[in-house]
Order: sequence, then C-alpha cells, then structure tokens
Amino acid sequence: MSVIRFRGSRPTRRALLAGLAVAAVALGCALAPLPGRAAVSPATTSPGAPPPEPRTVLVFGGTGQLGAQVVRRFVAAGDRVTVFARPGADRTRLQGLDVGYVTGDLLDAAAVAAALRTTRPAIVVNAVRVEDGDVHFYEKIMGPMAAHSKETGVRQLIHHGAVGAGDNAAKFPTLGWDKVPGLLERLADQGVGERLLRDSGVPYTIIRNARIYPDATPATGRAELTEDDGVISPMTRADLAALTLRCAGDPACLGKTYHVRDASLAWPPPGAAAR
Ligand SMILES: NC(=O)c1ccc[n+]([C@@H]2O[C@H](COP(=O)([O-])OP(=O)(O)OC[C@H]3O[C@@H](n4cnc5c(N)ncnc54)[C@H](OP(=O)(O)O)[C@@H]3O)[C@@H](O)[C@H]2O)c1
Repeated sequence: MSVIRFRGSRPTRRALLAGLAVAAVALGCALAPLPGRAAVSPATTSPGAPPPEPRTVLVFGGTGQLGAQVVRRFVAAGDRVTVFARPGADRTRLQGLDVGYVTGDLLDAAAVAAALRTTRPAIVVNAVRVEDGDVHFYEKIMGPMAAHSKETGVRQLIHHGAVGAGDNAAKFPTLGWDKVPGLLERLADQGVGERLLRDSGVPYTIIRNARIYPDATPATGRAELTEDDGVISPMTRADLAALTLRCAGDPACLGKTYHVRDASLAWPPPGAAAR
C-alpha cells in the first residue's frame, strides 16, 4: 500500500516556475501551496538540469470546476493542454490560459476517437461530472475513451472517479447511501466505468473523490493519496488538482486506485449542509 504526500519533495526549477505561474493566476484569491513533483516522478530534475520536455495532455471535463484547476496546473507546469469541450460549454474558467480546444460530446464515441487521434496525448485526464442523472453514463463513455486512448498510445489515463464505485460501496454500509434516491445506481455505474478502464489495457490511475469542499476553497496542502479503499474524507478540488499533477507521469501511480485523505478538513464544511 502506498501513500503519496504533498510535503517533503525537493523544489525543482520547473516546480518553482510552476509555483510562480500559479501564484500569478491566483492573485486576488487565497494562495494555494503548490507542491513540487513527486520524488519518484521522471519529470523531477537535478539542480541545474534543463526543464523536462512539455507533455501533451488532453483533459475531458476541463471546463468544469475540478477540470479547470487541473488544466491550470498543467499549463503552469509548461505542458501542452487540449480541452475536450461540448459545443457551447462555458470556457470562463479557462480564460487567459494558453490551451487548445477540441469540440465534442463524450457520449459521441467518434468525437472522442477523433480528439485522441488528432491530439495524440501522452496523458489523458477525465474530470467529468454527470449532471443529468444518467445511471449508465460511465458505462457509455469509458469504453471508447479507454479503448481509443490505448489505440493512440496514451501513456496514462487519470480518471477522477467516486468513493463507493462498484463493490467499494459495501465498505461504507453505515452512511445511508441506500436512502439517497439513485445514488447506489450511480455508484454501480462508476464501478462499471472503472472496470472498463482497467480491462482496456491502457495505463491508468483512478483517483476516487468524495465530500468535496466548495470550489473556491484553497488547497490545504495536506491531502494525500492512499490505496486504503476504506477511507472517505473531505477534500478540496485544489488539492485534487495538485494530486493529479503529482501522479501525472509517475510510474508509481500506474495501475493504482486511490482514495484521498485530508485530516485537516472538517465535514461538513463550515456553514454548509452535508452532501
Ligand atoms: N462527492 C462529492 O461531494 C462531489 C461533489 C461534486 C463533484 N464531485 C466529483 O468531482 C469531479 C469533478 O466535478 P466538478 O463538480 O468539478 O465538475 P463540474 O464543475 O460539474 O464540471 C463537469 C464537467 O464535465 C463536463 N461534461 C459533463 N458531461 C459531458 C459530456 N457528455 N461530454 C463532455 N463533457 C461533459 C462538463 O462540460 P460542459 O462545460 O460542457 O458542461 C464540465 O466540464 C467529478 O468526479 C464529480 O463526480 C464530487
């Protein structure tokens, strides 16, 4: 079992540049601590070494709250990012960022295939959230996303899933999920999506989230990834985005399904009702 922590990694030139860039775009908001890359990351450089080559990244859900924070961090790290966005998607969160776009709907397998064949990304991030209650959404989207990622040589597909996906729901019998209409069906669908991803043969990392704090909450810098699938903890999107960058390109994260633990956050958030 491995745990990936934010703290203790050596600052590199690239991480310092990334920190400056993120601080610049975050001016006016609370500044989030930006970690350096994981010590095991191939992108970690020795002092004085040239910065690593930019990576090509395709982000599904990049216009969303989590996705935009992920995009921002990849851009700040010097990577080349393309966002897969639906026609008419609100791109406000990405304003001013040097990103490319491909237009399409994830429910259109041909559009997903075209996006992957056109951009040929090394890394794919799926930060999508289903809003219309479709309890077969991940079953529909994950097959094409994973298969075309494999076909086009993607080196890592990082999927943001949910605590409770598939069989994992049985680990939390006291949380009353059975009383929330449709929730167990949605979690079963998340489980199907995870299985399709694992079975596809594409190198993957799954990060299961839960109990997300409001979008503007700054990173605590205390979140960590754990393979303990009995963990359910609050978290911020900013920390999720930082953990995504930590795992991107890190061989130690491949084939792993992570939960997030952040002992510094209370649940529910102050002034909010529990979800
Ligand atoms: N457990 C919790 O407390 C909790 C709460 C909230 C979120 N979450 C999880 O956090 C993650 C991110 O959620 P979020 O709230 O940050 O997301 P969000 O702001 O709602 O953004 C959702 C993104 O998904 C995209 N999307 C949805 N359907 C699509 C489709 N058919 N084709 C292409 N793109 C599509 C949206 O694109 P458009 O711009 O076109 O709409 C948008 O970019 C998800 O894993 C979500 O399940 C968990």
